[in-house]
Amino acid sequence: MSQYSEEIQKRRTFAIISHPDAGKTTLTEKLLLYGGAVHTAGSVKARKSARHATSDWMSMEQERGISISTSVMHFVWAGCEMNLLDTPGHNDFSEDTYRTLAAADSAIMLLDAVKGVEPQTIKLFQVCRMRGIPIVTFINKMDREGRDPLELLSEIEEVLGIPTSPATWPVGQGKNFVGVYDRWHKRLMKFERADGGSNRVPVIDGDLDDPTLKNEIGARAYEDLRDALELLDGAGAPFDREAFLAGKLSPVFFGSALTNFGVEPFLDAFIHLAPAPRNRITADGDTVTPDSDDFSGFVFKIQANMDPRHRDRIAFFRLCSGRFERGMQAVLGRTGAKLTLSKSLMFMAQERSNVEEAYAGDIVGLWDSGQLHIGDTLFTGKPVAYEGIPRFSPEHFVRVVLRDPLKRKQLKKGLDELSEEGAVQVFYDLERMERDPILGAVGRLQFDVVQNRLETEYNVRVTFDSLPYQHARWIEGELDADEMARRSGTLCLRDIENRLIVLFSSEWMMRRIIDDYKDKPVEFIAAVQPGRKA
Ligand code: G4P
Repeated sequence: MSQYSEEIQKRRTFAIISHPDAGKTTLTEKLLLYGGAVHTAGSVKARKSARHATSDWMSMEQERGISISTSVMHFVWAGCEMNLLDTPGHNDFSEDTYRTLAAADSAIMLLDAVKGVEPQTIKLFQVCRMRGIPIVTFINKMDREGRDPLELLSEIEEVLGIPTSPATWPVGQGKNFVGVYDRWHKRLMKFERADGGSNRVPVIDGDLDDPTLKNEIGARAYEDLRDALELLDGAGAPFDREAFLAGKLSPVFFGSALTNFGVEPFLDAFIHLAPAPRNRITADGDTVTPDSDDFSGFVFKIQANMDPRHRDRIAFFRLCSGRFERGMQAVLGRTGAKLTLSKSLMFMAQERSNVEEAYAGDIVGLWDSGQLHIGDTLFTGKPVAYEGIPRFSPEHFVRVVLRDPLKRKQLKKGLDELSEEGAVQVFYDLERMERDPILGAVGRLQFDVVQNRLETEYNVRVTFDSLPYQHARWIEGELDADEMARRSGTLCLRDIENRLIVLFSSEWMMRRIIDDYKDKPVEFIAAVQPGRKA
């Protein structure tokens, strides 16, 4: 036990991963309502619609509060300090969405009961899996006529390849939705439609043999429930916490965020399931314990200040060990510089405030004048270097067309800095080298941001030509780039660290080519660690 253990055990730092429209905004809102962090339904929602109502993304960003204060939402539940990390979806889906997961200790995978596993869920799930993040599944919209719950579980297992363990089981669905049976606590939670604030649902304690249960839900629903539970008890393995913590088993909850149903029991279960900050392994393979006396953590996101008169920005810093205190000094591992962390923010649901102290698991916003990069480690005491944050393979590509050819130097400077900051990835053609760089992004909006920032911050006007590629893989091993370049539907490039990357015009094409190389000493990689030059 260290002096910080008690504080650290209270922290739960997590993200919600979902496909657009599954109900993430609604669930976030309900979590904040239950946590007392917002007091009226609709406040998160209003921000979302404000974000969508305008196509002028820049003017929204200029009201900087919006994206910054929704990046991390802090609330308290049953004595736990909950840090909910926002993983932007929809139009603002970008590499930030992936990077944010590096700062999370667990994730809630939110599925729409009607739609099941959707493309964006798959992408985000894969990032969680790569990082071994434990995942709790919440199947939402049970008040609607959805799919058979057993079918949904098989879909999760087949498409995502993770076994599930239902903690609750729905009784009926849509118009006939009666509630959920809590298999872990042997009780039935009755559904009541409630749209407003945070309400408690009626709970009927008792196992299946209890006659009150049958009376409450009616003979038909009772029989169905009994059959389903027998099936689950017989077929499913019991919940295994170790497997869950290793990201190899997902407990499943059913509910309806919109009608407030199942959110409160979910939160109660979640704080026991979701781990407090755990040990972290450094790039050298050392273990850092969260309650160590020495302070350490890493930057996982940088939010540029959109005001062209100020070049400062906010670096989102995840504490991994020790205690943060405003005004403290820490070493920036990459350069060895000593920084004074005097201007720092903590994020509440609706506001940000100056932070005086923070512990492992907390996210602190550090004001930065350009010194910090994504993936940077800060520490006190013994030097620590956390693994950098991977670059994920882009899915959108454009060629940069420079409007004023005399500004090539500024363009290079701008792109170098923006790619360092993680705003976009920059590639060069093997032949044309630094002429007409190619940009790659996970979300299209990243291009608008780059175009605007090049103009306002570097005084360089560019336009983009779209390129017809949808996937990319970095190459490790011996690949004959000329031979690859001759295959139709591919383009070979180098990234800024001189690694070879191949773009493919379709997933089908990519699969085919990877298959052709399966007996050769070549690896096709979807995410690479920056800083390791080829
Ligand atoms: P997102 O952030 O994941 O994109 O989803 P969001 O919460 O905005 O929800 C998408 C739509 O699904 C919204 O409807 C929302 O009201 C609805 N929804 C969320 N949870 C539930 C639920 O438990 N049951 C049902 N039936 N619907 C749910 P909308 O019509 O697009 O927006 P709105 O007009 O309701 O705001």
